[in-house]
Amino acid sequence: MTSSSNHIYPVIWQENKVLLIDQTRLPEEYSVVEIALVEDMAQAIKTMIVRGAPAIGVAAAYGMYLGAREIETDNVEQFLNQLEKIAQLLRQTRPTAVNLFWAIARMLKTAYESIGTVAEIKSTLLDTAQEIQLEDLQTCQEIGDRGLAVLPTEPQRLSILTHCNAGSLATAGYGTALGVIRSAWREQRLARVYADETRPRLQGAKLTAWECVQEGIPVTVITDSMAAHCMQKGMIDAVVVGADRIAANGDAANKIGTYSLAIVAQAHNIPFFVAAPFSTIDFELADGSQIAIEERDAQEIYQIGTTKICPSGVDFYNPAFDVTPANLIKAIITEKGAIQPSELINYRAVIAK
Ligand code: MRU
Repeated sequence: MTSSSNHIYPVIWQENKVLLIDQTRLPEEYSVVEIALVEDMAQAIKTMIVRGAPAIGVAAAYGMYLGAREIETDNVEQFLNQLEKIAQLLRQTRPTAVNLFWAIARMLKTAYESIGTVAEIKSTLLDTAQEIQLEDLQTCQEIGDRGLAVLPTEPQRLSILTHCNAGSLATAGYGTALGVIRSAWREQRLARVYADETRPRLQGAKLTAWECVQEGIPVTVITDSMAAHCMQKGMIDAVVVGADRIAANGDAANKIGTYSLAIVAQAHNIPFFVAAPFSTIDFELADGSQIAIEERDAQEIYQIGTTKICPSGVDFYNPAFDVTPANLIKAIITEKGAIQPSELINYRAVIAK
């Protein structure tokens, strides 16, 4: 996976460093940030230079390696103790997307199960980070193709509404919700994408729209409050969104605003799909009420660019995610196929490494 290909890869391993597309600067500017230290990776995840559930899992996996290679000991036990501290640093970056915790756990497991010298363990950790990245890319392509099978059969070319950015930028590449949309475009099953702007950080207006433009996929950006109107006017055939964490009962956390979208979709009898890899499913949580919801800085609400849009003296509440109850979700599109939320629990044994 190199930067020379036409595809969008938000995380690239190159010349012993990680290159991250700076997602805070798109679409005005395409720039890449070089990361060589785990502390800088933790900061990049926190400040959303890299964002999106699977992408921060991949970034955290490389972060584990960057931290590991700085550990100066030949003693395996001491090495593992210090690796635990690196894991802790990365865990504290963002709380909601389970892929982050999943990737860190997989890197730790690799280290504990490796037999050999510290140098050999370090090298295995790099292999594992690359494996996680490659698997996610393949998984997203699977999700895209599996999604095609469950999209409405009429009309031939669908108008699909999505929220936030669940595209290449949010994964190792290709995307989950946008992966389904990409596959539909490839198979001439897509008329147009409607991208919710996704306040407060505008991932839909900035990132999803940018990705669609790169590939010539027709895209219309609407503000979040226009979705019901568009559905009422018959402009939307299906809704496909990503997820940051899915509980065992199928409740799905995703970008704030997803829940209201699911309610209006149901009111208009429009199928609402969640597309996500198995690494997004948290079988430890019985239902969505147990999902930790990140709260972010109030500035994301009261300021657009450098302009303050609210008077002084008001309070703010800025949850970054909400939970869509399983009963509003027609199917969860995974790499193993589309699953009814109520059937999810039967797949517990299938969960990825
Ligand atoms: O706060 P973000 O931008 O990291 O939130 C991203 C989302 O909510 C995505 O929809 C989700 O991570 C799925 S990405 C394939």
